[in-house]
Amino acid sequence: MLLTNLFRKKSKTTLLHDGGDGEHSGLSKVLTVKDLTFFGIAAIIGGGTFSAIGNACYSGGPGVILLYIICAIACGFTAMCYAEFASRVPVSGSAYTYAYVSFGELFAWIIGWALIMEYSIGNIYIAFSWSGYFTNLLETFGIHLPAWLTINYQSAHDAIVANQVGEGFTAWNTAPVISGLRIIFDLPAVMINILITYLVYRGTKESRNFSNIMVYIKLAIIVLVIVVGAFYIDIDNWTPFMPNGFGGVMGGVSAVFFAYIGFDAVSTLAEESKNPQRDLPKGMIYSLVICTIIYIILALVITGMVSYTQLGVSDPLAEIFALKGVKWMLFIVSIAAVVAMTSVLLVFQMGQPRIWMTMSRDGLMPKKFSEIHKKHKTPGFATIVTGLVVGLPIFFTDENFVLDFTSIGTLFAFVLVCGGVLMLSPQSESELAERATKGKFRIPYINSKYIFPLLCLGAYGMVQYYLPTFFSDTFSYSDDFFTTNIQMLIFIIFCIVMAILSFLKNLSLIPLLGLISCCYLLTGMAISNWQWFGLWLAIGLVFYFIYGYRNSKLNKV
Ligand code: ALA
Repeated sequence: MLLTNLFRKKSKTTLLHDGGDGEHSGLSKVLTVKDLTFFGIAAIIGGGTFSAIGNACYSGGPGVILLYIICAIACGFTAMCYAEFASRVPVSGSAYTYAYVSFGELFAWIIGWALIMEYSIGNIYIAFSWSGYFTNLLETFGIHLPAWLTINYQSAHDAIVANQVGEGFTAWNTAPVISGLRIIFDLPAVMINILITYLVYRGTKESRNFSNIMVYIKLAIIVLVIVVGAFYIDIDNWTPFMPNGFGGVMGGVSAVFFAYIGFDAVSTLAEESKNPQRDLPKGMIYSLVICTIIYIILALVITGMVSYTQLGVSDPLAEIFALKGVKWMLFIVSIAAVVAMTSVLLVFQMGQPRIWMTMSRDGLMPKKFSEIHKKHKTPGFATIVTGLVVGLPIFFTDENFVLDFTSIGTLFAFVLVCGGVLMLSPQSESELAERATKGKFRIPYINSKYIFPLLCLGAYGMVQYYLPTFFSDTFSYSDDFFTTNIQMLIFIIFCIVMAILSFLKNLSLIPLLGLISCCYLLTGMAISNWQWFGLWLAIGLVFYFIYGYRNSKLNKV
C-alpha cells in the first residue's frame, strides 16, 4: 500500500483543475514570448559569467571553451525536454510538476527539494558575487565599507586558518566582537536579498518591467566587453589549450554549468504566460541559444586577453581590463555585473515561491505556501520564506560551497526531467494533430535504436584512440578509487544499460542524449558534493514522510 502510494501520479486533468491553468489561480496572465525570453536571459547571465568563469578558466585554461560547449549541449537537450513538458503540462512548478505526472509523488518531492538548491541556494552564490562587484563600484565613488561588512564569516575564518593575508584576514582582525563572537557578515548581500524579496512580493508586472530593462543593459555591456576585449586578444594565450589536461577542464564543471542555469526558471511562469504551451518552449530555447553564443565568444575573448593563470579571481571580467590598463571599462563592467546579477536574483526569487505554491496546492507543503496576496497577486507568504531561506545562510556559508551545491542539485533535477520525457506515454494521432494546429511545441522523435549504441561505440573508439589508458585506469582499483573513479565507472555502466534499452525499446534520442550528457556532467562533481547532496536528500525525505505523504491531496482522490 505504502509503496504504491509513493509512486502515485497526478494526471494532467487534475493539475489543471487545481487552479494550475492560471484561470483560477489568481495570478495575472501577462507574459509574452519576448518577456519569457528576457526572463530566461535575465536568469542565465549572472554570477556564472561575471564571477565563477574566472576559476573555471584558471583550472581548465582556454580548453574551458570545450566545457562551455559540452554544457550547452546538455542544457540544449534538457531545454527541449522542459519544453516538451511545458507544452503538455502548462502549470507552474517546473520540473517538480513534470516529475509528478511522469514518475509519481516521491520523485516529484525529491525534485522539488532539489530545486530549492537551484533557486534559493543558487541565489546565495549570486548575492555574494553581487556584493563583490557592488563593493568595487562603491569604491570607485570613494565609499569604503569596512572589510567585516563585505565578506562572509566562513571565508574570513578560512583566511585566518590558512594565514592568508587579504580581505578575509583584515575582516577577522578588525571586526567588532560581541560576547566573544566576531561580527562579520556580507552586508550588501543581505541588503540586495531584502530588496529583491520586496520587489517580487510586490508583483509580477513590476518585476517584469524591471527585469526587461536590466536585460537590455546587461546585453549591451556584454557586447561592449566582447568588442573592446577583442582588440586585446593575443592568440599566444590560447596555447597550451588544456594546461591541466581534460581533468583540469572538468574541474570547472560546477562553475560553467552554473552559468547556464536559469533557462528552466522560465517554466515556473506558466501560469502568468498568455499562451504557455506555445510561448514557454520558445522562451526557454531562444534564451538558451542567445546565451550559449555569448558564452562561447566571451570565453574565447577572456582566455585570449590574458594568460589563464591570471584568471583565478572572483571578478575576472574586471580583472582582465585592469591587467590591460583599460580603466574606463572597469567601471562599466562593475555596473553590468551588478545589473546582471540583480536580474538573476529577481528571476530565481520569483521561481522558488511558485514551485512551493504548486507543491502546497498538491498538499505536499503547508497551505500557507499557496496563498495569493489579494492586492499584489503574488504568492506572498512563500515569497517571504524564500527571502529567509536565501538570507539566513548568507551569514554562515561561503560561495564555493553553495556553487557546488547548486550545480549538483540542478543537474540532478535535469536528469529526472530528461528521464521523465523518456517515460511519457506516446500521444495519439489526434492529440499530436491538435498540438500541431495550435502551434504547441513538440520534441521531434528520432529513434535511438541504432544511433545511440553506435554513438557509444564511437565514443569508446575515440577515447581508446586519444586516451589509451583511460579505461584501464578507470576500472583498476587504487587507494583513491572511491573518490576519483567511481562516478566514471557508474556512468560507463549506465551508458551500456541505456544502449541496450534504446535498442530494445526504441527510446527517443533527444531526451536520451539529454539524460546522458547531464549524467556525464555529474561525473565531474567531487565526492564531497555527493555526500552533502545525499544528506540534503535524506532530510527532504524525512520531511516528506512526516508531512507531505500524509497531507498529499492524492490521499483524498
Ligand atoms: N546562470 C545564473 C548565473 O550565472 C545562475 O548567475
